[in-house]
Amino acid sequence: MKKIIAIVLAAGKGVRMKSEKVKVLHLVSGMPMICHVINTLSKLDLDKIYVVVGNQGEKVIEAVSYKNMEFVWQKKQLGTGHAVSQVKNKLKDFDGTVIVLCGDVPLIKSNTLKNLLNFHTSSKSSATLLTFYPDNLLGYGRILRDDEGNVTGIIEESDANKEQLKIKEANSGTYCFSWKKLSQAIELLNRENVHGELYLTDVIQLFSSRNEKISTINVENWKELIGVNTREQLTIANYEMNKRMLKKWMDSGVTIIDPNSTYIHTQVNIGNDSIIYPSTFLEGKTKIGKNCEIGPFTRLVNSTVGKDSKVTYSVVFNSNIKKRTNIGPFSHIRPGSEISESAKIGSFVEVKKSYVGKGSKVPHLSYIGDTKIGDRVNIGAGTVTVNYDGYKKHKTVIEDEVHIGSGSMLVAPIKIGKGAVTGAGSVLTRDVPSDSLALERSDQVIKEGWAKRRRKLEKKRQSKKKMT
Ligand code: UD1
Ligand code: CA
Repeated sequence: MKKIIAIVLAAGKGVRMKSEKVKVLHLVSGMPMICHVINTLSKLDLDKIYVVVGNQGEKVIEAVSYKNMEFVWQKKQLGTGHAVSQVKNKLKDFDGTVIVLCGDVPLIKSNTLKNLLNFHTSSKSSATLLTFYPDNLLGYGRILRDDEGNVTGIIEESDANKEQLKIKEANSGTYCFSWKKLSQAIELLNRENVHGELYLTDVIQLFSSRNEKISTINVENWKELIGVNTREQLTIANYEMNKRMLKKWMDSGVTIIDPNSTYIHTQVNIGNDSIIYPSTFLEGKTKIGKNCEIGPFTRLVNSTVGKDSKVTYSVVFNSNIKKRTNIGPFSHIRPGSEISESAKIGSFVEVKKSYVGKGSKVPHLSYIGDTKIGDRVNIGAGTVTVNYDGYKKHKTVIEDEVHIGSGSMLVAPIKIGKGAVTGAGSVLTRDVPSDSLALERSDQVIKEGWAKRRRKLEKKRQSKKKMT
């Protein structure tokens, strides 16, 4: 069988994005666009993938990794035809099929590419194009056909005349070619167009004039082939990808209450019988176990949540939450935290880089930072681990079965020994031995009858005021 390789074009800057960041690194569903394209290609049985890089090439190379891939530099961006020609040196003796794709078409599906390859091979075409009918044609090249419907070329929007602009069939920028024929044709490209670039699309006219067989496959769902040139197109791509993710998880047994306000990134995993409530964002490599209740109004980023847990009205970053836990409402779990089985983090509680042991509870209004909390600990409302002295962060250790009184300041570094109890309102600066009581507050003063006297005085004052 003849070999098949892919060429992905990713060297352009993406001027229309008006961004400091190169276009193919803009995120769709939490992942750079170019990574979507490479992931899709990885599902095909290809002999090699060449990625043409240029603008911020180092960053693009850093973002993508796949075993069968090689990067080729295009130092000056002289057009898509010029980009493809950069691979020529690598493919001197190659006599197979190439599939050419753009790094800014992130929604394309592997099945569509398989169909394209199969059709191209079985029809013995020299070129096969994926075409589509987008709702908004802005920026796309149009497919030119003769009276019999044969493809005669592609005209770029900026070079098209009034009649050509009326053509509704657009070029998706995804093609199959016989490499031998393509590599000869790109030698003949010229820069006689509005942008003065070497257009890959011009090879189609060359093929046509040489009576090479050109086929097309039309993709019905135009959104699958959307090319992202602008922020508006980026939004459409994100919206579409999200819809796909929602359907995937619903199909696999997850309840999604409101698809219009739920966002699930492509790398997320969710166990069945979990319920996702409205306005919830599951981002990055977040993993949720079975039978969880997540949301409403919750954001989980690169975090895991074990089965049978609840996270509500909360934000969690880069943390590990184990099974049967209860988080929120209004918890903020910051990176590097681990919340063990059956623990509870309650309302208005912030946890940073801390470990909370099994069955422990931090139910209300607390800050826990750089802390290790053992098992079955109860932290009273309004407790603060005072971890920062203005220069350095210090650690707090709270051993198993400790009971911290409400309104406590635990000034780190400090260790509260196993089974100890601390009195409410204490500012503790020294270690507390196991099983002891630590108390730091002045004696209470009682002045009997004081309040009554004050009320009387106040009454007198008021009546005097009225008289004058
Ligand atoms: C291109 C097609 C257009 C098609 C559309 C589909 C050409 C001339 N036009 O237009 O017919 O409808 O895609 O989305 O091919 N790139 C390089 N080097 C360059 C120029 C571009 O690597 O010198 C890369 C870009 O990074 C991008 C891809 O090629 O990933 C397409 O370039 P872009 O400028 O987006 O082309 P379009 O104007 O969208
Ligand atoms: Ca484009």
